[in-house]
Amino acid sequence: MGTDGEGTENAVGEAAGIEAHDGRRAARRDEAVRAAVEQGLLGPDSPVVGLLDVTGIRESAAALRAAFDAVTAPGTPVLHAFAVKACPLVPVLRLLREEGIGAEVASPGELALARAAGLRPEATVLDSPAKTPAELRQALALGIAVNADNPQELERLDALMRAGGPDGTGGTPAATRRSPLGLRVNPQVGGGSIGATSTATPTSKFGVALRDPGARAWVVQAYRDRPWLTRLHTHTGSQGIPLSLMAQGVAEAYALAEEINEAVGRRQIDTLDLGGGLPVNFASDAATPTYAQYARLLAEAVPGLFDGRYGLVTEFGRSLLAKHGTIVARVEYAKSAGGRPVAITHAGVQVAARTVYMPGSWPLRIAAYDAKGRPKEGPDVTQDVAGPACFSGDLLAERASLPLLEQGDHAAALDTGAYYFAHHYSYNSLARPGVYGFAAGTDGEVAFATVREPQSVEEIVAESGGAHATALTTLGEPGRR
Ligand SMILES: Cc1ncc(COP(=O)(O)O)c(C=O)c1O
Repeated sequence: MGTDGEGTENAVGEAAGIEAHDGRRAARRDEAVRAAVEQGLLGPDSPVVGLLDVTGIRESAAALRAAFDAVTAPGTPVLHAFAVKACPLVPVLRLLREEGIGAEVASPGELALARAAGLRPEATVLDSPAKTPAELRQALALGIAVNADNPQELERLDALMRAGGPDGTGGTPAATRRSPLGLRVNPQVGGGSIGATSTATPTSKFGVALRDPGARAWVVQAYRDRPWLTRLHTHTGSQGIPLSLMAQGVAEAYALAEEINEAVGRRQIDTLDLGGGLPVNFASDAATPTYAQYARLLAEAVPGLFDGRYGLVTEFGRSLLAKHGTIVARVEYAKSAGGRPVAITHAGVQVAARTVYMPGSWPLRIAAYDAKGRPKEGPDVTQDVAGPACFSGDLLAERASLPLLEQGDHAAALDTGAYYFAHHYSYNSLARPGVYGFAAGTDGEVAFATVREPQSVEEIVAESGGAHATALTTLGEPGRR
């Protein structure tokens, strides 16, 4: 058989394997919803939960590693750093750590989460467009990698490097030298279908805008002036960006690294940070595009990237977690308005802010389960699936087609493991739901582990200034403090 035939056969085999995976994931989800109801995680007093498929997360991490292993020269250092913003939950970071995945953090909070999960400094990368001097100092003291966003941030790094130590005393130069330092560039290759998640537009706020007049020469000189600047970072993401555009962004960064190394006469840039951004298919259970497709595309478009001369960092977030999370909410009431059925559930803007405010860009699939958590049978009915918040736009889905949801049933918002229930929006002081991981237990029944406790109303009061109840009424009154 010729190579073409083999290639086709491999592709067909790969597609069949992926489909089987997708089917098993959907079956695990159905089992978990049923078990959550049966085991009382989900019920009248806990009417909304987030569920995470541990097996699925492990599988995605393994697929990511395998995809890059398949195209990378043996021995090339590759760090896959999970974008913590996609699912900022410590047990998730710990699970990924066990799967050989590091952390990309973009705030002191995210860094603290990564540290709480036990991530090593060498497996952690700090990116953010607004790092304070204290954050930079801390990162250097810890020895974590930092990608500077702009010339002013580079000047701050200059000062820290000149001082010889992150504490500014000149006392710990060795610690300073541990942090690999890079610069983020915006290749300005264009945006995708969602403006708010397009980072490589001409006017994006991120990185040094490479095609602006004089910018490229400035970047080359910045590396010439700073022998310690050894990484180059770009992120052409995220959702809504075609793979070809992502690859183009990476190709631009690679070409720049080659140019810089040529200009300085040595391999000063030793690592390229390619960012994340693999889009997620929210329209069906198919986990497409795959990491393998993207890695192969990169290898075709930028072959030099994988020949072992550069270490690599990736920063995928959504694609690692989205398909493995499900929000399940009880239908508190089922009613009809203007001839259309409306299910009033406990999942709305507080757990799905993007979808509620921008339904056109972030549509979610809704699955119907009955009161016992079993997939609901029956003809599809056009209906709205609403949340609990006090504004009429609080809809998980408008005109969704699914078996009629009735009081006591459950509505599940699928593919919500990234940027949804982990990103609570506290409108109406609605409580953060509990999040539970699930996997098959030894007895074959679904086993759950608490990832995050549901928020209590006492915690809501405390977070809302409960300890300062009289702070404003006494302000400025003579003799009262
Ligand atoms: C610098 C950087 N890296 C990685 C990511 C993760 O992107 P995604 O979750 O689409 O993979 C983001 C997302 O905003 C980002 O800004």
